[in-house]
Amino acid sequence: MSHLPLEGRRALVTGASRGIGRAIALGLAEAGADVAVLSRGGPALDAVAAEVKERGRHGVAITCDVTDPDQIDEAVAASVDALGGLDIAVNNAGGFAWSGPFLDLTAKDWEYTRALNLDATVRLLQRVGAHLTAQGSGAVLNVVSIAGLGGAPRLAYYAACKAAIISLTKGLAVEWAEAGVRVNALAPGWIDTKLTSGFTAHDQIRLGLQDEVPQSRWGVPEDVADAAVFLCGDGARMATGAVLVLDGGLTAQLSKVARDLLPLGRAAA
Ligand SMILES: NC(=O)c1ccc[n+]([C@@H]2O[C@H](COP(=O)([O-])OP(=O)(O)OC[C@H]3O[C@@H](n4cnc5c(N)ncnc54)[C@H](OP(=O)(O)O)[C@@H]3O)[C@@H](O)[C@H]2O)c1
Repeated sequence: MSHLPLEGRRALVTGASRGIGRAIALGLAEAGADVAVLSRGGPALDAVAAEVKERGRHGVAITCDVTDPDQIDEAVAASVDALGGLDIAVNNAGGFAWSGPFLDLTAKDWEYTRALNLDATVRLLQRVGAHLTAQGSGAVLNVVSIAGLGGAPRLAYYAACKAAIISLTKGLAVEWAEAGVRVNALAPGWIDTKLTSGFTAHDQIRLGLQDEVPQSRWGVPEDVADAAVFLCGDGARMATGAVLVLDGGLTAQLSKVARDLLPLGRAAA
């Protein structure tokens, strides 16, 4: 009899109606987990819950706008109720509504982006952390971004939120290690989703960004989902406080010019 790596685990995934969150929810279900999928709700979210069920798992759609702290509290409680407990929490909802020079950032865009990415993460981690540490086991995964690892021109304010979540990931990994709860992060590079559709719609931007990536491609949500399944499972039992970069080599590369144009052959003596 085959044994699935996440058989019997109960997972919650935020931002699961499309893109990376949807792929992670389906990946966890394929690996054997029951999954509560959260987003602001609607037919797309219901469809993902149905896709979880098609994989033979318990799937439930829970409406939750993560910019409202009360809705997070209610959604975590509803997930625990619906699944009969919780073992895995994937904090994926996030994004940005605007890109441009930092000096043009409005207070409204900053507040929205901070609420969606950072404030929501703090609230969610408090709620799921209380449950998992009391239980004495669990895995938390924060979807951050390579933007949070370095300088991100025209998205610096968004990158700052992701950098803060990377710090939270490491701090909580240490705080909760004794309680048996692992906390890790995934840092994707360019992934083709609705969030990046404003970039991929323009050939010059889409191909220009792709050209900088050593693997020479945009990622797809499943690239992130496969790594998420690994980090949430026992195969990653010693990983906590880790930030796994999934960017086709982009942040490892010091210079694209060196990659493409350094002369071949022996340097002059
Ligand atoms: N795509 C990339 O290149 C990339 C790279 C690095 C990191 N990331 C990160 O990966 C995560 C997922 O991004 P994605 O590319 O999959 O984005 P996406 O396609 O725009 O999906 C975003 C998801 O978040 C949900 N969401 C948006 N606002 C919400 C809110 N206020 N409350 C609850 N749910 C909300 C959306 O569902 P509803 O509309 O149904 O609420 C949707 O399910 C984000 O944290 C993003 O920062 C993405």
